[in-house]
Amino acid sequence: METNINNPGKAAMVRAMFAEIAPRYDLLNHALSFNVDRHWRKFTVRKLEDVLKRPGARSLDLCCGTGDLSLELGARAETIGLDFCHPMLKLAMSKVGASIASVEIIEGDALRVPLPDAAFDVVTIGFGLRNLESIDGGLREIFRLLKRGGRAAVLEFSRPRARAFRGLFDFYFTRVLPRIGNAVSGSGFAYDYLPDSVKDFPDQEALATMMRTIGFSNVRYYNLFGGVAALHMGDKP
Ligand SMILES: C[S@@+](CC[C@H](N)C(=O)[O-])C[C@H]1O[C@@H](n2cnc3c(N)ncnc32)[C@H](O)[C@@H]1O
Repeated sequence: METNINNPGKAAMVRAMFAEIAPRYDLLNHALSFNVDRHWRKFTVRKLEDVLKRPGARSLDLCCGTGDLSLELGARAETIGLDFCHPMLKLAMSKVGASIASVEIIEGDALRVPLPDAAFDVVTIGFGLRNLESIDGGLREIFRLLKRGGRAAVLEFSRPRARAFRGLFDFYFTRVLPRIGNAVSGSGFAYDYLPDSVKDFPDQEALATMMRTIGFSNVRYYNLFGGVAALHMGDKP
């Protein structure tokens, strides 16, 4: 399988694409996933709850987009949400302003985060890792930012496990979703890029192996909706 482990020049395309679809991003996320995406983010935060409960815990949500995962984290611990797409962040900021969650939003690159080493108990990246120029670079940056004993959570599309379901899902994901997504978002291509980028992304085992190679311990993953998405977690020893 080919993986987009290094993909120079991708960042500008990705930033422009999310800027274009930002106004319809949340609507399409919830509609095209039949609202399942909300459960996936809540599940992620539940699996982090023990760490988020530590006194003075701090979390960082990379590629925070419109801020849904940051807000879930920020309801439990002081949280920073970071993204490099200004129109997505403007939406995140207005949601943060309307909530009581403790979230600070900053603009920056997930591959060069302008924050010190070992500053966070939790670092998350939700549907972001696949979009980076370097998956390995993103995982290394997460490792750098975590305190010892801290936990990484990578929520991302993955590979459905059952063959029959995979066929059905592939039809929806490559034929139905792009038509609706492109039409509603007004983008000529963002929702074709989505299945293409998932195809190039490491599967469950390959991503777990990358995390172990970088130095994460206790690496494990949870298949969500039969493996349509997976939540990978690892600790910094
Ligand atoms: C699919 S959205 C996910 C947003 C959010 N985490 C969620 O769960 O809905 C991907 C986000 O990653 C951001 N992104 C991609 N590459 C990035 C990078 N190198 N640095 C910061 N943000 C990046 C995009 O701007 C976009 O907002």
